[in-house]
Amino acid sequence: MNKPDGQGTFSPEIFVPAEKWTSPERDAAEREKLWPKTWQMVCREDRLIGAGSFVTHDILDDPIIVIRTGDGDDDLSAMYNVCQHRGRRLVDRTHGKLGREITCRFHGWRFGWDGEVTSVFFEEDWDGCPAFDKSKLAVPQIRVARWGGFVFVNLDPDAESLESWLAPVTEFLDPFHIQDCKPHFWKRIHAPINWKTYIEAFNEGYHSGETHTLGINYRVVNMPGSAAGVHGRFWSESLGFSEYRLRGAKSWTQPETFQENLWANMAHQYDTLFALTLEPSMKAADRIRDLPAETPPEEVMGQFYQNIVEETEKSGAVFPKDLTMEAWLNAGTDWHIFPNVIILPSTDGALVYRSLPDPKDRDKAYVDIWSLGRFPSDYEGPDEPDYYNNFEEFIGACPFLEEDFANMEAVNAGMKSRGFKGATFNPNQEVQIKHFHDMLDKYCGKL
Ligand code: FES
Ligand SMILES: [Fe+2]
Repeated sequence: MNKPDGQGTFSPEIFVPAEKWTSPERDAAEREKLWPKTWQMVCREDRLIGAGSFVTHDILDDPIIVIRTGDGDDDLSAMYNVCQHRGRRLVDRTHGKLGREITCRFHGWRFGWDGEVTSVFFEEDWDGCPAFDKSKLAVPQIRVARWGGFVFVNLDPDAESLESWLAPVTEFLDPFHIQDCKPHFWKRIHAPINWKTYIEAFNEGYHSGETHTLGINYRVVNMPGSAAGVHGRFWSESLGFSEYRLRGAKSWTQPETFQENLWANMAHQYDTLFALTLEPSMKAADRIRDLPAETPPEEVMGQFYQNIVEETEKSGAVFPKDLTMEAWLNAGTDWHIFPNVIILPSTDGALVYRSLPDPKDRDKAYVDIWSLGRFPSDYEGPDEPDYYNNFEEFIGACPFLEEDFANMEAVNAGMKSRGFKGATFNPNQEVQIKHFHDMLDKYCGKL
């Protein structure tokens, strides 16, 4: 069986040595071989409305800028956000609107939206100088592509297309039409943890029974996982009804019917996560609560799904035609898009996590959370994230996630101890994290 053998050696199928998180060599390999080689999610597309709108983004020490260059969906340009004269970062703002040219504020060199040099002060000073070739001084372009309403970039000109990179995931997530969703909330935390600690915590459901005790007893829910190409996933196999304690109740209630159990799970998300279950699914769940006790679970699910479609349409939003009940249930719970994004799809939209390493401190990361929902076309979600300097500041913002965050700093601290040899992953519910490390090894090389 895949268990530590007690002799100081461990089965490679489930064991990942602590150095994979703590060694400076691994950090350096990630900088050189992982981040510049993989597709990176930059922003929601709706931050780039109208020609000249831009977003800046940092991939560790590489500042980049994405610019909308025209009215077409694919009229996007991405390049290093770096002046080719003396290396000043070109644009300091995080987002906004550019004029036709981008002016470097150091010596005033100007560049077009595709990076070409458009003017140089005292250009005649370089007359006859072979090193001054304007075509070679253009800002280097970067690959850019879109999926799910997100803009992605890849610093590697030879990388496979985003479409082929995401293929095993998009087959399951495309029916959710995440590109048509808008943020219900968007939050960003400067978290005191390594970027991997965040991704790993949201890449398994095994922790739910012990960590999430606020309103649902998840101990009866088994959440197996698997690899999906370079990516990973997990899903939920309920082994029985979960006790619940909701809306001020002091004691736990044992659901007596499938519909009561389903309702409690929705209500818990609606009340404490503010994601996955938004208005339409909550109203749909309220409506199945009183179905006759003897209604078979498949019938309850069918009715619940139908109610969700109705409630979504009643709200003025569009429910995707290809999001059939089969497509919904087939998608499972949670998808890890290698290396640093997690997406949980739902009938109401999606919950999306992203983790970006802080280039100055390997024990810090900028972590984003988007709760995406289906809204009427005139709805405008937040354009800026709510920003928190640490997990303490986040307290009160989202009780469900606070339970997750309560572990993360402690994990980050504990795994550095010489008393920790490495992680012994659950061969059923955490294989997708072991797979994550296998993929990190593939990119970064073995230690
Ligand atoms: S560094 Fe940009 S113009 Fe000199
Ligand atoms: Fe969690």
